[in-house]
Amino acid sequence: MTATRGLEGIVATTSSISSIIDDTLTYVGYNIDDLANNASFEEVIYLLWHLKLPTAGELEELSNLLAENAALPPEVIEHFKMYNTKEVHPMAALRTAVSMLGLYDDKADVMDPQENYMKAVRLQAKIPTIVTSFARIRNGQEPIAPRKDLNFAANFLYMLNGKTPEPVEIEAFNKALVLHADHELNASTFTARVCVATLSDVYSGVTAAIGALKGPLHGGANEQVMKMLTEIGSVDKAEEYVLDKLEKKEKIMGFGHRVYRQGDPRAKHLKEMSKRLTELTGQGKYYEISEKVDATFTSKKDLPPNVDFYSASVYHSLGIDHDLFTPIFAVSRVSGWLAHILEQYSDNRLIRPRADYIGPGKQEYVPVSERG
Ligand code: CMC
Repeated sequence: MTATRGLEGIVATTSSISSIIDDTLTYVGYNIDDLANNASFEEVIYLLWHLKLPTAGELEELSNLLAENAALPPEVIEHFKMYNTKEVHPMAALRTAVSMLGLYDDKADVMDPQENYMKAVRLQAKIPTIVTSFARIRNGQEPIAPRKDLNFAANFLYMLNGKTPEPVEIEAFNKALVLHADHELNASTFTARVCVATLSDVYSGVTAAIGALKGPLHGGANEQVMKMLTEIGSVDKAEEYVLDKLEKKEKIMGFGHRVYRQGDPRAKHLKEMSKRLTELTGQGKYYEISEKVDATFTSKKDLPPNVDFYSASVYHSLGIDHDLFTPIFAVSRVSGWLAHILEQYSDNRLIRPRADYIGPGKQEYVPVSERG
């Protein structure tokens, strides 16, 4: 047996949800560019869960279900108030709160397709409320309930900031949600599938996925990108910063990808948005620094920016706290995790690979009293 490090190139399952073929990303056969330019995030959720775009009636029904299920059990809010929210990373809080949601769902362990679909609705609806409630509570503010007249993207920004967002903000945020919704067998989605393939419950699958997304090689990269842009501070320092990192053989977050070779097709949309939004909000220097980092890095390494690179300056220009960037990734990606969880249940087999053992050979047991 020979191990393939990081399972690179290993095809671990079949799936009808999303595909990456020749550097083109599609959701159920729809090119990501088309969806990013035209679709609402709610349409994309429906697409991923039902493998078809919704009719107007189906879309309204899903939107209503999401709005009706957005409220959290009061115990989750109380729990946020119990610990020092200033010290806790919002991804850790999200992971814990999603696990808690399982405690308050009396159908959590019922393995029935309709019940599991409703758990998907509840999770998709409640995760934005968790992220925004946590963000407000740590600032000494009360959580805000979603409004029925706002769409998913607008509601998130409204629940976070307490004011109705501008159309340009809603458009940008919706696009970011669409772009992050699913991505074939990425690390967190694979984690979710491994978890539920034991026939564990939906809440366990999503909790496990949040844990995987949190790491800086995956979803956590967007927060690290913003940390880097802030550290650089001005465009004239960008080149030296990148060259110094490369010299020290350190990674620059937001570049490279396991699957894409020519570049991540999502990055160009975020780059465009970053340019527009940073200019509009007087944060233009972050776009300029980003561009300089991009030009310097890619002139040295053939590793184009990925989805996380320009999303950092987009979220920053929307006035979002930097440690909320990865939770926002989760707000979107949970739609994909849930689609994959439902697909896994529909044709399940335990996921249990092998390891190439490289430890010591045969050893004789020596009682503890006789060991030197
Ligand atoms: N900066 C500098 N060097 C890099 C980078 C980078 N961002 N990415 C890869 N490399 C180099 C790496 O050092 C290695 O060089 P060498 O062969 O000389 O040792 C080579 O490229 C291969 O890298 P790897 O880490 O073995 O590649 P991988 O396929 O295992 O990892 C990756 C893919 C995305 C984890 C990696 O490119 C990386 O760490 N990027 C930075 C973190 C990041 O932006 N993550 C977000 C990924 S996209 C969104 C998501 O899925 O969450």
